[in-house]
Amino acid sequence: MRVLSGIQPTGRFHWGNYFGAIHQYIQLQHEDAAFYFIANLHALTTVREPEVLQHYTQDAAIDLLALGLDPDHAVLFMQSDIPEVSELTWLLLTGTPMGLLERCHAYKDKKARGLSADAGLFNYPVLMAADILAYDSDTVPVGADQLQHIEVCRDLAVSFNHHYGDVFQMPKAKILDASAKVPGVDGEKMSKSYNNTLELFEDPKAQRKKIMRITTDSRPMEEPKEPESDHLYQLFSLVASDAEREEMAALYRQGGFGYGEVKKALADAAESYFAQARACREEWAAAPDRVEQVLGDGAAVARKVAGDVLKRASAACGTARIGSK
Ligand code: ADP
Ligand code: TRP
Repeated sequence: MRVLSGIQPTGRFHWGNYFGAIHQYIQLQHEDAAFYFIANLHALTTVREPEVLQHYTQDAAIDLLALGLDPDHAVLFMQSDIPEVSELTWLLLTGTPMGLLERCHAYKDKKARGLSADAGLFNYPVLMAADILAYDSDTVPVGADQLQHIEVCRDLAVSFNHHYGDVFQMPKAKILDASAKVPGVDGEKMSKSYNNTLELFEDPKAQRKKIMRITTDSRPMEEPKEPESDHLYQLFSLVASDAEREEMAALYRQGGFGYGEVKKALADAAESYFAQARACREEWAAAPDRVEQVLGDGAAVARKVAGDVLKRASAACGTARIGSK
C-alpha cells in the first residue's frame, strides 16, 4: 500500500497546515510506504518570484524534516525533480474533457471573480492526477478542499484505462480529520489569504506578541464561558497537555478569569510544544547538504517508480518505440 500526498510551498507553514495536514502525514509514515513531495510546479501558479519560490521550497523541506518526517520511513522529494510526471500530465491531458476542468473550483472561482486565469491553473487538476497516478498510489491523504481533484484524478484514470487497457491503479482519498480546522488569530479559519496565521517557526517573541493581540469577545470576566466555542481555547487545546486542557476548560466554565491569562498560557504551551521541532529545524537549516541528500535520494526512489508507470502508459497509448521494452 502506498500513501502519497503533496504540499504546496506557497508560504511559511502555519498551525493550520500543521494540525490540519502535516501532523497527520507524519503519523501515516509509520503505517505504509509513504511518498510526500513539495508541489513546487503547482506553486508556480501563484508564486511568480523565482527566489521566493526557491526559498519556500527549501523551507518546506526543512520544516517537514524538523517536524518529524523521517527519511527512513517516508520518501521526501520535490515535484519538479520527477520529469516523468510532466510527461504523464500530457498523456492525461489529451483525454481530458474541457468541461471537467471548467467545473473545478480553483478555476471556476477565479473566473467568477472576473479574473483572468492562465492555462496552468486550468490544468492544475491534471498535473495533480499525474502526481498521484505516477506512483501507483493507493491512498491520498488530503484536506476536504482537495476532494474534487481526487475525483478528477479517478475519472481520468478510469477513462485512460477504459481506452488503453489497465494501466493505472485506482487511488482513494483519505480525508484528513475535519475537526482539526484551526482558527486564526481573528477567529476565522487560519489561512495565508486571511493574514491571520501563527507560523510554525516564527520568532517566539514575535509570536508571543501576536498571541497577546488575538481578538477575544468582550463578555465580562466573571461570566462562565463554554470553552469549545472560543477560538483562544481551541488554539490552546492544540498545544496543551491533557491536564492543562482540562484545567483551562474548568476555568472557562467557572468564569472569573481574564483572557490575558489564557493568552499567556497559550504562548507558553506553544513554545514548549514546538521547542523540539524548533531545535531540530536549526540543525537541518545548518546542514543544507543533508537536506540536499534527502531530496536527492527521495527523487531517485520516486523517479524509479514514476519511470515504470510512464513506460506502462506510453506503451499503452502508442508513444513508445515499436521495438522498446
Ligand atoms: P492556506 O489557506 O494558508 O493557503 P493551504 O491551502 O496551502 O493553506 O493549505 C494546505 C493544506 O493545509 C490544506 O489542504 C489543508 O489540509 C491544511 N490547512 C490549511 N489551513 C488549515 C486550517 N486552518 N485548518 C485545518 N487545516 C488547514
Ligand atoms: N493541490 C494540493 C494542495 O493544494 C497539493 C498537491 C499537488 C497534491 N499534487 C498533489 C496533494 C497530489 C495530493 C496529491 O493541497
